[in-house]
Amino acid sequence: MRVSLADLQAQYAALRDDIDAAVHRVLASGRYIMGEDVAAFEREVAADHGVAHAIAVSSGSDALIAALWAIGVGPGDEVITTTFSFFATAGSIARLGATPVFADIDPRTFNLDPVSALARITPRTKAIVPVHLYGRRADLAPLVRTGIPVVEDAAQAYGNIKGPLATLSFFPTKNLGAAGDAGMVLAADPEVADRIRLFRSHGARPKYVHHVIGGNLRMDTLQAAILRAKWPRVSMWTAKRRANTFRYRALLANTPLVLPEDSSDHVWHHFVVRADARDELATFLRGCDIETEVYYPTPLHLQPCFSGRKGELPVAERAAKEVLALPIHADLVDDQLVHVAASIGAFYGI
Ligand SMILES: Cc1ncc(COP(=O)(O)O)c(C=O)c1O
Repeated sequence: MRVSLADLQAQYAALRDDIDAAVHRVLASGRYIMGEDVAAFEREVAADHGVAHAIAVSSGSDALIAALWAIGVGPGDEVITTTFSFFATAGSIARLGATPVFADIDPRTFNLDPVSALARITPRTKAIVPVHLYGRRADLAPLVRTGIPVVEDAAQAYGNIKGPLATLSFFPTKNLGAAGDAGMVLAADPEVADRIRLFRSHGARPKYVHHVIGGNLRMDTLQAAILRAKWPRVSMWTAKRRANTFRYRALLANTPLVLPEDSSDHVWHHFVVRADARDELATFLRGCDIETEVYYPTPLHLQPCFSGRKGELPVAERAAKEVLALPIHADLVDDQLVHVAASIGAFYGI
């Protein structure tokens, strides 16, 4: 029995009529960049999150660049962020000419440790970027109290933001995923939202009059139309993911795995356990036709393009050796969860 981390073919099969109709509608319109589908999707996502402004962009990575640029991050600035995230979190900071300053994580939540983050504040700190890793909301209050602007990287946490400036990704395997790349910035401040809209289209307003040097960060109409077809199901899918975590808790209770804490501030993009002999377990599960993944095998400060030292951020460095994501997507059936748990039991000789 095959168990994959995401089953986009099953998701498409269940929504085929709606998605096909959306795609054909856009193709027949002859208008493929931005347009009414993008504007409507912005309104829908803004309403979902209770924020005034949603600005659709080309990816979650571009959403981070646009949000950071809009609050003035640039050369000479420092931006504090977690070392335990997807590369784009830090890459977007560096691409603006600023320096990512990496902080360690909380060993229970895998999210930015506020104590470690606050210890790294200097007069050059321009922003703090916590990540809601795996879908669990980071502890924002101590960061907000500093008065330094906070940009929430909620790429993995659709529906789970708290503050005035956050970014989303609609990468295909996300809880709400496009059929390609797409992202969004959520902003409470109208001026910040306006700057992002300007930045998204080469800084032009009107056409051919360029006030700032932005880029082409626009969302394709097709992606917006496909996302709109999926959007009414996102809370149902998240509820199914959460239900799968409860099932795993029961099925995996007698294994040596350390299971992730249950939390109401979690949308369960990933179900990540800690395991001794993690790589051997992953290999064994692959042999049982079960797909797993390590998010992330190398903390960002140890990436070749950054200059951190081994041992500097020990909690994240240890997590990188122990974490393993098990499949929890919404199209799984119970037999598949049972197969995952039985295979893990077999690995540990239970
Ligand atoms: C935490 C985090 N930040 C940023 C991104 C970048 O999003 P995208 O792949 O849409 O550019 C991702 C996506 O994978 C992510 O997981």
